[in-house]
Amino acid sequence: MILLHNAAQVVTPLTGGDFSVITNGAVVAKEDRIVFVGSTDEALQSFSSAARIDVSGKVLLPGFVDSHTHLIFGGDRCEEFLMRLRGATYQEIAAAGGGIQNTVRATRAASEEELLQNSIHHLQEMLQYGTTTVEIKSGYGLNWESEKKLLHVAQNLRQHTPIEIVTTFLGAHDFPREKSQDEYMAELLEVMLPSVREQKLAGFCDVFCDQGYYSVDQTRKICMRAIELGFRIKLHVDELADVNGAMLAAEVGAVSADHLILANEGGIQKMAQAGVVAVLLPGTSFALRVKQHAPARKMIQAGVRIALATDFNPGTCYSHSMQYVLQLACLLYGITPEEALTAATLNGAAAIDREGLVGSLEIGKQMDCLIFDVPHYGHLFYNLGVNRLETIIKKGKMAWNKNQN
Ligand code: NIG
Ligand code: FE
Repeated sequence: MILLHNAAQVVTPLTGGDFSVITNGAVVAKEDRIVFVGSTDEALQSFSSAARIDVSGKVLLPGFVDSHTHLIFGGDRCEEFLMRLRGATYQEIAAAGGGIQNTVRATRAASEEELLQNSIHHLQEMLQYGTTTVEIKSGYGLNWESEKKLLHVAQNLRQHTPIEIVTTFLGAHDFPREKSQDEYMAELLEVMLPSVREQKLAGFCDVFCDQGYYSVDQTRKICMRAIELGFRIKLHVDELADVNGAMLAAEVGAVSADHLILANEGGIQKMAQAGVVAVLLPGTSFALRVKQHAPARKMIQAGVRIALATDFNPGTCYSHSMQYVLQLACLLYGITPEEALTAATLNGAAAIDREGLVGSLEIGKQMDCLIFDVPHYGHLFYNLGVNRLETIIKKGKMAWNKNQN
């Protein structure tokens, strides 16, 4: 049993919507589960035999849940980012053969071992900013052989990191250039989706439903087939244009709809009614240099739960840091630190169907806890671009410490 005591603040969202800040707080865990959250006095009295860790002057938070990443890929697209800094748009670069197709070429050419090593590196980076659970999508293979390679890497990664991994099949990230759209749709529906399911390679299915990528009709077809096979749905929608993707996400009962930069009001209302979590990716709209950011406030007002994630990928957002995302979310969306922290933890867990297990410091949940060397959680927002994380406890065990890495 471990007992963290004397925390300047124990900060956590609570199931049901409240946000809790306990001063001079304590958290106690037995093996991988939380058994107590409350005052230091009470913890010391009730759990006198537990191993004590003094966290005086520090802030405890639940581990961050990064619910949207494209972590496994070959090569990089630094050149494309520099082109964007000089004024080119994402769509112009993609039309010239860059974009997703650029990474597909590099990913197909990379060996499984190479992809594994790159991905281990990315996870190590993410860990040091406090990510303890991550969702990883395939999507840079665009044929069965390469998509399978990516999903195998995702499986193998579990032996190399304390971060918990949830996988999503995103074979419908783009269309491969070597066949027709109809041919690839048939392959997705009849070969890839059933095989992913049979081989238990992913529990979620995602589609890039946007202008120039999958249409609403194509996306609906893929979702229907995926649901029939037992997948749960996540969707990339309304990132580049308002294609009524939010509406579609509600219609198919998606667990989450992601991006939503240009989502319309009707779609937002429908998402609220259907209980679809909105995964917002402020690093992406910021790095795309688009004028508009996701209408987070409107969504909250409509009753949609918002989650925050990095969208870590080589093209639109090359950031490993959930702390950066938290800061951007407040500054770009105008949401509060409490809303942002809830979105990066509990709502992120909801976006990957893990709400009962991770995302908050509550009794019965997994002991995934971040210890920050700050006197108040406000410093996570105030101290721009600086990492004040000191220690990570994942499933009740020390997973990372600043001084040992
Ligand atoms: O979430 N929007 C689609 N997919 C990624 C970008 C992929 C890429 O450019 O490589 C995203 O932004
Ligand atoms: Fe994405």
